[in-house]
Amino acid sequence: MRSLRFRLPVLFLVAIVVASAVAAVIAVGLFQNVARQDSLRELRRQASGLADLYANQALAASEEGRRAPRFAAARLERATGTRLYYAGLNPFPGDDSGLRTLELSVLPDQEAFRAGEPQTFEFRPPGQDRVYLAAAHPLNIGDQTFGALVAAKPRAELQERWQPLVERLALALLAGLFVAAGLGWYLSRRLTAPVVALTRATDEVARGRYDVVLPRTRKRDEIGRLTERFRDMTRRLAEAEERERNFLMSVSHELRTPLTAIRGHVDALAEGLVEDAESREASLDVIRTESDRLARLVGDLLDLARLDAHRFPLAQDEVELCRVVESAFQARTEEAKRRSIEYEQWFGADPVLHTDGDRVLQIVTNLIDNAFRWTPDGGRISVELEAANGTISVAVADSGPGVRPEDRERIFRPFYTGQGSQGTGLGLAIARELAHALGGDLRLDSANGRGSRFELTLPAR
Ligand SMILES: Nc1ncnc2c1ncn2[C@@H]1O[C@H](COP(=O)(O)OP(=O)(O)O)[C@@H](O)[C@H]1O
Ligand SMILES: [Mg+2]
Repeated sequence: MRSLRFRLPVLFLVAIVVASAVAAVIAVGLFQNVARQDSLRELRRQASGLADLYANQALAASEEGRRAPRFAAARLERATGTRLYYAGLNPFPGDDSGLRTLELSVLPDQEAFRAGEPQTFEFRPPGQDRVYLAAAHPLNIGDQTFGALVAAKPRAELQERWQPLVERLALALLAGLFVAAGLGWYLSRRLTAPVVALTRATDEVARGRYDVVLPRTRKRDEIGRLTERFRDMTRRLAEAEERERNFLMSVSHELRTPLTAIRGHVDALAEGLVEDAESREASLDVIRTESDRLARLVGDLLDLARLDAHRFPLAQDEVELCRVVESAFQARTEEAKRRSIEYEQWFGADPVLHTDGDRVLQIVTNLIDNAFRWTPDGGRISVELEAANGTISVAVADSGPGVRPEDRERIFRPFYTGQGSQGTGLGLAIARELAHALGGDLRLDSANGRGSRFELTLPAR
């Protein structure tokens, strides 16, 4: 009962019934009015004709000095279906004209009567319980008004005339209702069927099944658009779930690798398989580095999770950016010298930012680390700071192998590593999330084989 499928056609029908009822009432009213006017005109004509006839007869009778002929009132009544009355003085003394008589007082407008004018009215004849519609025409003989001839018809006869009209209207209304009900039902089904299908699909998706079949709809209307959006949403949900699964698998894998190494060395030490002090030292060394790696990995994962949930604590300090970049740069000068890498920095501005200095350092260090990892000995690495149009940019460029076009977005995903990387693939993912958290961005500008250039931009607030 509450469903749209039911309510739409019902609403449709109610609207049609109301509209038809109003139209029918107006039509019947109009018809009634016309019928009444029609009847009155007819009565007026009869009364006037009768009065003429009566006057002529009376005049002729008085001139010829003979008795007035019997007036065929009963026959006239039968022929016209009208009741005839006479009110007033009888112009034929002693004559029975066969007309029913009325008191003159039934005429509502005595003045008009005296002025010799016709009039119409309603009245209840003596001995009758029906109301009659009547027209009175004065009987003028010479210039004297003797009385009035009244032609009357039961008012109920009018009703008989418009009854067939009402019946026909009702029939038409009923037929219209049937058609409308069919149409409404069909329309509501067309409208609600995709909605019902979408609801079912939503249930499926909620249960984790993303391969639901969605209804075919015309793309133009609202429901079509809703279906398209729903399809989009389902696809994205599926992708998100896939990413999550991959992420978990990568995490487990990354955690297990160092753990396996540690476990192996600990077992060897415990079983006394490592005998000389040198080997033992080497084993302990592996355990130490692998534990460090684990600790770093867990720290990175925590960072990533917090960044994702926007629960990352960010300091707000006055930061001299040149100093931050300088300190990240200095940390690698020794290595650059040893590997004869051309290593230089260039400052095009000296901005002071309101930001988290440690996080900026983390990003820049990460970029420089990557550059050193991928640049061959004798290559070139540069760090540049610039300010333009309200943004500060720190760029780290290298002469390494660059990044393949299909990898340019992937390298920013967690755990994505290129061939030959010993890292976890979390560095750039964290760096980009951090850049976003600081209100900036991290982008790659790389031509395959001609090195890469990572650019961190920050708003110059
Ligand atoms: N300067 C660079 N030159 C070439 N490739 C790079 C550079 N920096 C990063 N990459 C690619 O991006 C991948 C992801 O980098 P990153 O997130 O720092 O993880 P990791 O350094 O642990 O591998 C790297 O494995 C490498 O394939
Ligand atoms: Mg890295």
